[in-house]
Amino acid sequence: MASGKFYITTPIYYPSDKLHIGHAYTTVAADAIARYHRMRGEDTFFLTGTDEHGQKIQRKALNAGKTPKEFVDGIVEGIIRLWDRLLISYDDFIRTTEERHISVVEKIFQRLYDQGDIYKSAYEGWYCADCEAFFTETQVDDLGGRCPDHDKPFEMLKEESYFLRLSRYADDLLKYIEEHQDFIQPVSRRNEMVNFIKQGLEDLCVSRTTFDWGIKAPFDPNHVIYVWVDALSNYITAIGYLSDDVKQVEKFERYWPADVHLVGKEIVRFHAIIWPILLMALGLPLPRKVFGHGWLVLPDGKMSKARGNVVDPHELIDRYGVDVVRYFLLREIPFGSDGFYSEQSLVQRYNADLANDLGNLLSRSTAMVQRFCNGKIPEPAEDDGILRTEAAACIEEYEKCMDSLELSGALQSVMRLIGRGNKYIDEAAPWELARQPEKQARLGGVLYSIMEAQRVAAVMLSPFMPNVPGQIFEQLGVALDGTSFWWPESVQWGGLVPGTVVNRGAPIFPRYEATIEAGGA
Ligand code: ME8
Ligand code: MG
Repeated sequence: MASGKFYITTPIYYPSDKLHIGHAYTTVAADAIARYHRMRGEDTFFLTGTDEHGQKIQRKALNAGKTPKEFVDGIVEGIIRLWDRLLISYDDFIRTTEERHISVVEKIFQRLYDQGDIYKSAYEGWYCADCEAFFTETQVDDLGGRCPDHDKPFEMLKEESYFLRLSRYADDLLKYIEEHQDFIQPVSRRNEMVNFIKQGLEDLCVSRTTFDWGIKAPFDPNHVIYVWVDALSNYITAIGYLSDDVKQVEKFERYWPADVHLVGKEIVRFHAIIWPILLMALGLPLPRKVFGHGWLVLPDGKMSKARGNVVDPHELIDRYGVDVVRYFLLREIPFGSDGFYSEQSLVQRYNADLANDLGNLLSRSTAMVQRFCNGKIPEPAEDDGILRTEAAACIEEYEKCMDSLELSGALQSVMRLIGRGNKYIDEAAPWELARQPEKQARLGGVLYSIMEAQRVAAVMLSPFMPNVPGQIFEQLGVALDGTSFWWPESVQWGGLVPGTVVNRGAPIFPRYEATIEAGGA
């Protein structure tokens, strides 16, 4: 069992609207990774939360006729309910309106000011309030005056502001990125960032004066701290950086630096440029990895709150169940690439992988154990080793994929084992062995290895589909308290005890026959 710690984060989402399956995607991915590391016995800390300040939220609240705090409180409640339904095993949920966050962001800002990393000047330039980001004249020209992510014209700002000296740290950052090949992933995102930094970093505007929903600069309360500086700091404020409480400070020392900041690709630049520079200025180590995954897209572009083309995760959970939704999101799209979402593809994926392969194998194999072995897992008297060898290869592949965050690849390796199990039944034809008294040892070996392969597959699925291992174990007749898997001990071949009585039940994944219109949501 590996020891050590593992700290993983999701972006803290804007509570500007209900979340959609794009947010669920990141959070479910982080959850699967966190569960895998817990299974490895690592002291895992999984952080998520909400990014509650800024102009966008203030405007939304105003439109809704609420104070910003009333407005976000309602939405955050819904977000927590969604994470509960999706079985997100987060260890902490940070809200940037919490005192534990605000007081530390003030200290950070003061410190950067005191050491000369922040200075006063005036900002005149472009802004997208949906991105909460500044854009240069060249960027705005290249983009034809509209933000491509939000399909809105940029706004012109002209106000007194404080600036962070990004320029002071650009060379150090570039050197760090070049010396730490794993820092920004996937590689295409790293290359983008390197090119961006090489063009030269302008100092960043880090305060605003034309609205007030934010954390005030302690040395100049007319200014609110730029929401991205506020938000990025969550990764250290949540675990106790500069806390007055010793227990919290110990937590910070234990978990920082983060092992993975999981983010969507549109916010890699904040995490790969602004965040590391803030950390360098604070004299803190940089996160081990910033992973920018791709987008869920629909025929009319990226699924987003601003476009209003969103799919509600609650509806999918109601229709298909949480495990299926989690499986689909993480299996369908190679982690790092964009992927088209449609409900039709969910149903196809469900039928192909879960109904026809996984569910079918469980159903036919338990039926055979009932019929040919009096309902008991047989002794593996004569085992040809085919599935044991396949399982070893799949486990190795799975581990490699999990460690490099190729989540879809990890699930493919599980399904490869299941697929091999089905094929092995066809090849070995237990129904023929059952008819021949001299083939009983072989029959035992065949059926044992088919059942054992499913036990192993259930363990591998557990980070992705938290309920399914229990359902599989129930039919295999194995007791399970749901949390007792350890990697790699639990996938060691031979865990299933001969003589265990199977419980053939209803198919765990009945086929969907209903046809869903192409692209339908
Ligand atoms: O950016 N496909 O919050 P946000 C895949 N508050 N992932 C998607 C997605 C899609 N179509 N849409 C959203 C913010 N996401 C800031 C973050 S962090 C210090 C501050 C996911 O509410 C993806 O992870 O706009 C993306 O990066 C994130 O939601 C953006 O959420
Ligand atoms: Mg966004």
